[in-house]
Amino acid sequence: MTLQFFKAPLYLGKLQLKSPILYAPLAGCSDFPFRKMSAKFRPGLMFCEMVKMEALVRYDPQTLHMLDYSAEMRPIGAQICGSNPFIAGKAARIIEELGFDSVDLNCGCPVDKITKDGSGSGMLKTPERIGEVIANMVASVSIPVTLKIRAGWDENTLNGADIVKIAEKAGAVSICIHGRTREQGYSGSANWSYIKACKEAATSIKVIGNGDVIDGPSAKKLLTETGCDAVLVARATMGQPWIAQDILRYLQGKNPLSYSMTDCRQALIEHYHEMMRYHNDHRVCVDMRRVGCWYLKKSAATRSFRQAISKVATMSELENLIRNFPLEE
Ligand SMILES: Cc1cc2nc3c(=O)[nH]c(=O)nc-3n(C[C@H](O)[C@H](O)[C@H](O)COP(=O)(O)O)c2cc1C
Repeated sequence: MTLQFFKAPLYLGKLQLKSPILYAPLAGCSDFPFRKMSAKFRPGLMFCEMVKMEALVRYDPQTLHMLDYSAEMRPIGAQICGSNPFIAGKAARIIEELGFDSVDLNCGCPVDKITKDGSGSGMLKTPERIGEVIANMVASVSIPVTLKIRAGWDENTLNGADIVKIAEKAGAVSICIHGRTREQGYSGSANWSYIKACKEAATSIKVIGNGDVIDGPSAKKLLTETGCDAVLVARATMGQPWIAQDILRYLQGKNPLSYSMTDCRQALIEHYHEMMRYHNDHRVCVDMRRVGCWYLKKSAATRSFRQAISKVATMSELENLIRNFPLEE
């Protein structure tokens, strides 16, 4: 079976994507240095971390900082979270003014603090509100408007397919379906049959499948099983900025490229340098505890690396550890 992308390029509205392999918004992770690393491997589209629309319309400096990007990251989308249609329209306009290629509405965040006011996956409980918010965003901008949802609040209220129709009617050009319910959080497996049901409900809106894509074979399986137009990769991008290239090579029938522990260490050093250029020393030290472990997770020594990096107090200790820590294949 020839995948749709190889017959014709994928468009979200007027926006042509580089490939059908997209990188997810990841709160606390997909910051500027992360996206600099990702850009080298040409994902179809990448996203900044989710930002709150209320904070954006106040021009909160920290929120604007999270939306910083550079030209090589294009095409790049911003994702906003909130449930007020009027504020959503204003926030979408700011995203357009900042030069983003697309603007996405978050209807998937499971965190209580977000859902309690009806935002994030809380929006799944009021699908008509999703329609109002999307319609206001569409009326406010000329860039493509997209959304990302979960399959439903829980397995008794799987309303993803209804939301697909509502979003399509409101003018969204794509909808990404995370094949888990809000109740599942991030545990258990994503259920791709939920995604398939959403794709079947779509007429013109592009449907992007998400959940448990970790390599070429899983991406191909999701695309063929669900008929989706593209896949969105989330956790598997952490410490593997090259995964879009890997998946694309697999879909094209090319031989895989292999990454040794030395390659992973080299990539980590590059990521560290990107962080140094962008964040202050304290932030780099704290973030490296996480980022370092992502890149070295395939090493048998990853546990002792985790312990060592959590004790690092100075930048020189940090750099010495990254460069010289004995890694086993
Ligand atoms: C640390 C973390 C942060 C996330 N932040 C966001 C976010 O800001 N916006 C969003 O729509 N989804 C967010 N997600 C969900 C992912 O985009 C994705 O839907 C989910 O992880 C399932 O995909 P995966 O199995 O490929 O990881 C986040 C997930 C994780 C693990």
